[in-house]
Amino acid sequence: MSHTTWSLGFHLRSPKSWLNDPNGMCQFRGRYHFFYQYNHAWPQDNQKAWGLFTSPDLVRWRYEGVSIEPSIPEDRHGVYSGCTVVERGQAADGGDRLRAYYTGNVICPNKTHNPRDVAFANDGREANEITCTSDDGIHFGPKAILLRPADYPDHCSLHVRDPKVWEQDGSWHMVLGARSVDARGLCILYDSADGLDWSFRQAINSEYPFGFMWECPNIVQLDGHEYLAFSPQGLPRLADRWHNLWNAGYVALPQRILDTTRLDERTFVEWDHGHDFYAPQTFCDDAGRWILVGWMGTFDTNYTSAPDGLDWCHCLTVPRLLTRDARTGLLLQNPVPELDGLRGEQVELTGETAGSVGVAVLPGRQADVVVEGITGDGTLTLDESFQLFFQAGRLGVRYLDKHSAAGRQERSIPLDALHDVRVLVDGSAVEVYANGGAEVFSCRWFCAETPDLAVTCSFDARRVTAWTMEDVMSDVYAIAQAPDLAWPGWKASAHKI
Ligand code: FRU
Repeated sequence: MSHTTWSLGFHLRSPKSWLNDPNGMCQFRGRYHFFYQYNHAWPQDNQKAWGLFTSPDLVRWRYEGVSIEPSIPEDRHGVYSGCTVVERGQAADGGDRLRAYYTGNVICPNKTHNPRDVAFANDGREANEITCTSDDGIHFGPKAILLRPADYPDHCSLHVRDPKVWEQDGSWHMVLGARSVDARGLCILYDSADGLDWSFRQAINSEYPFGFMWECPNIVQLDGHEYLAFSPQGLPRLADRWHNLWNAGYVALPQRILDTTRLDERTFVEWDHGHDFYAPQTFCDDAGRWILVGWMGTFDTNYTSAPDGLDWCHCLTVPRLLTRDARTGLLLQNPVPELDGLRGEQVELTGETAGSVGVAVLPGRQADVVVEGITGDGTLTLDESFQLFFQAGRLGVRYLDKHSAAGRQERSIPLDALHDVRVLVDGSAVEVYANGGAEVFSCRWFCAETPDLAVTCSFDARRVTAWTMEDVMSDVYAIAQAPDLAWPGWKASAHKI
């Protein structure tokens, strides 16, 4: 079976095989660098490395292959998530150098391992914080171990990972996600004068237990306000919140992260209400913009993201510009404006009277649909298959045919009023941004094999505009299929371990 309608034209995925978290996003020597968790051995095995895409403009990408892979005993079961920092003037040529920080994962069960400890929380695992540098942003040099299990506080279990490093007040800071020995999620912070020698600073706990593990902590510093983002595992599914098994969000802190030891988990805000979103990372680009990218997928789902033998699995969201809503203090997410440059043919969907239905059939499977000035209830439907709805005080998405859902069920949240909606459609990836980016849904949609996209809008709205979007990724994925580009060093490293 052919899957051309599922191809991605402007979303990043691994050319082949499995992708999860975005890693180490930065702007380095004029190019954006987006690393990602890459498992070349999927679905048989789980061996994480950092794959890499680079771009001058967040839109036109080049696949650079595998940048960091397991090569030392301390990362032999996976180069896990982390970040990069740009060290000004530190490269051999006097230019900038890129420093990566990541967690080296080691699973080392012993004969007495308790089989009920499936997560290796208390023994049989090592998490090492590791660094390495690169002058060209692609090839990394020798690795140095910065923190080993013995360096974490006693109340931490063996789950400690995903370093995020930043500079503030003239020194370096690292926040790590952790699980305590009594299975509570928390963050731990370290300080360093040189980025190499780290000393424990403080833990950040929630007031009351809030999940058993916090993964991928990240920071946002906007308009004089600080936000701590993390991905808590183990939140109970509630009527209107936390519908994924693992969730991702942030807390707007009343003070700086460096002054925080306790946060109010009741103020945790979910980034995204869709089925396919987890482990996002943030970074600040050279223009001072805070940008968020999420993994458009999640672990342990009861729905599939690679149906019918698709040989790649999951993608990243488009880069989202974060802005602070001065009224609520919350963060708004919108596609970076660079994406507008991919817009092609423009169609206005005009209903004759209020409540009437506007329909457009767009060539291709990539589209950007904007509905402005909405009053009242309505729907926006793609191919009579995927539907965004605002009905009876709820905003949500539903699948009208079982096949395209690949096991996903309807999702919705309560909402007083819907004013505007933007829907990015890219083959099997759909991102919905509502009310200026206050509410977001990211979903995979395994649509039928039709060459055109039918967009039907029943909202009473001031304006409904749809654009085709240029496919800038298909060629990149085709080129990247060359075996030496897809995972150049993997075989070489396999016997180094
Ligand atoms: C989040 C995560 C991270 C870890 C990585 C491993 O999705 O579990 O905590 O570093 O994925 O791939």
